[in-house]
This record gives sequence, structure tokens and C-alpha cells, in this order.
Amino acid sequence: MVGANVNGQPWRDDQGNLIQAHGGSILHYAGDYYWYGEDKGVANVEGTSRVPFVGISCYRSTDLLTWQRIGDVLTAANDPSQQVQAESIVERPKVLFNALTKQFVMWCHFDTPDYGFAGCLVATATQPTGPFTVQQILRPNNFDSRDMTLFEENGQAYLVHSANMNKTLYVANLTPDYLGLTGEVRKLFIDQEREAPVIFHEGEWYFTITSGTTGWRPNPALFSRSHFLVANQKLIDNPCQGPKKATTYDGQPTFGFKYQGQWYLLLDHWQREDLQHSGYSILPIEIHGRDLVVPWVDQPLQRNTAANG
Ligand code: DGJ
Repeated sequence: MVGANVNGQPWRDDQGNLIQAHGGSILHYAGDYYWYGEDKGVANVEGTSRVPFVGISCYRSTDLLTWQRIGDVLTAANDPSQQVQAESIVERPKVLFNALTKQFVMWCHFDTPDYGFAGCLVATATQPTGPFTVQQILRPNNFDSRDMTLFEENGQAYLVHSANMNKTLYVANLTPDYLGLTGEVRKLFIDQEREAPVIFHEGEWYFTITSGTTGWRPNPALFSRSHFLVANQKLIDNPCQGPKKATTYDGQPTFGFKYQGQWYLLLDHWQREDLQHSGYSILPIEIHGRDLVVPWVDQPLQRNTAANG
């Protein structure tokens, strides 16, 4: 019997192996949850804060607590163009199901080891369990792109990416097949230097949660809200609480998702000198009118009983 995972620590899968799904995201499809992330299951390249590219992993769950490893669904071998190499940076995978093409479409941050290329990798699969085949590597609309996420509503998807040397978040419309960009781009938080974007819609508000830009070192998260996805987003406050508020509980946002009527935030707890042992948290996102609170809880998916009780 494998013990329960604890927020802030490395987690184990149903076989007792370390979960390697950093910078991850969760797709709900046909009753199952698929967690895609960076497989960093090797030692750091000596003296650096990076590991050689292993793959993008996939884990499956029905309850978001017990995870079965599917395997690495994207590796250098799935890239016909052979641009993906061991020294490539492939981070923050996000996957959408495209109802028109019936394909699973993955976008990742793709980079050279010095983060100088600053682009995206787009890959597709016919099953959520992959394999994903690289379709293209690009700089979206010829802009730089580092931390990123995808957001979809009513069949229109957007790439939300840190651009202009991480100064400004850009929201770029994807084509109906989610494989490319239409050219339409809006800017959020101009010169505010936000990354690790999380974006979700609840009621009359579009909320974001982002981190500052301090590499692997934690910093205060901030939330924003607007009645519109791509206009009037205003940074409001840090949604965290208590003594670890200033470091987002020593974590960094990577994804927001709704489960049984409750929004949750998936965090990475980076160990920059030993990335494979970085931890995870799943914390509740409480919506208080137009404000967000992300309380610390010890167990993944736990609700903040103190506040709710
Ligand atoms: C912070 C980002 O949020 C991570 O995904 C990663 O790119 C590191 N920077 C690299 O320093």
C-alpha cells in the first residue's frame, strides 16, 4: 500500500515511484484525469538548474489522488524534424481535445538550453495517452514565448504566454484546429513581469493567477480579474495566506482546474539544484465574490475546513 501524498513534497504514483510531471496540467476526458508534465527523472546537469530532456509524461487518475503512470508520451523520438534534442528545454505542457479534428493537441514551451530561442512546440495525438507527434516548433506570431498556458472556451482556444523578455503576457488566438495562430494578439499586464500563468472563468469573472519572474526561486503569486478574458485584467493581490504568503508556500502556479464544483491550483515546489525531487501541491481556490484566496492545506484536494466550517 502506497502512503498518501502530502502537499509541498515529491509525490509517488500507485507503484510507489516518484511522479515526474513538473510544470504540469490536467485534462479531463471521458471520465478520467490525465496529468501531463515534464519528466525530469534524471540528475541535474552538473552546476546547472536543468536536466537533459527525458520526455513529457502522462499519468492517469479517476480521483486526482492516486496516479497511474502511462509513460512518456512525447520524447525526442516523436519529433520527425529532429529539432528536439537531449539539451532541449521542453516545459509546461498543456493539452486540449479538439472536437473538430478529434485530436489531442499539446503546446509546450520549447527552448535552447540558454532559453534564447523562446518558442513553442505543438504536438498531436489521437489518444490522450499518446504518443504525441511533434507537428511544429515556432515562435508564436514571431514573438518570444516562455512560460505559457492554453485556455479554451466555446471552441475558441488561446495561447497565453510570457513575451517581450517576460515583461508582458500575450494572449494569442489559436486556429480552429488548435495547431496554429490566427495572428490576433492582445496584451495583459504590460511591463508587469508575470509568468507561470493560470487562467479560468467562473461566473462573471475571468481570473488569472501568475508568479513573478525569479527563475526557479519562489516569489509572491498575484491574482487578477476582469469581466473579459483579454481586456481590463487588473492585478489585485496575493491570494495566499500566512507566513509563506510571500513565497506562494515555496511554490509556483502551473495549472487551475475544477473538480466536483471546486476550483484547484496545481503548484510546483521547485528544487532547483535537484529538479527531479521537486514537489507538488493541489490547493483549493476559494472565490469570495470578486476576490480569490488560496489557503494552504496539507493534503491534495483538501478543502479549507477552517474557513468553510
Ligand atoms: C521559471 C519558469 O516558471 C519555469 O517554468 C522555468 O522556465 C524556470 N523559470 C527556468 O528558470
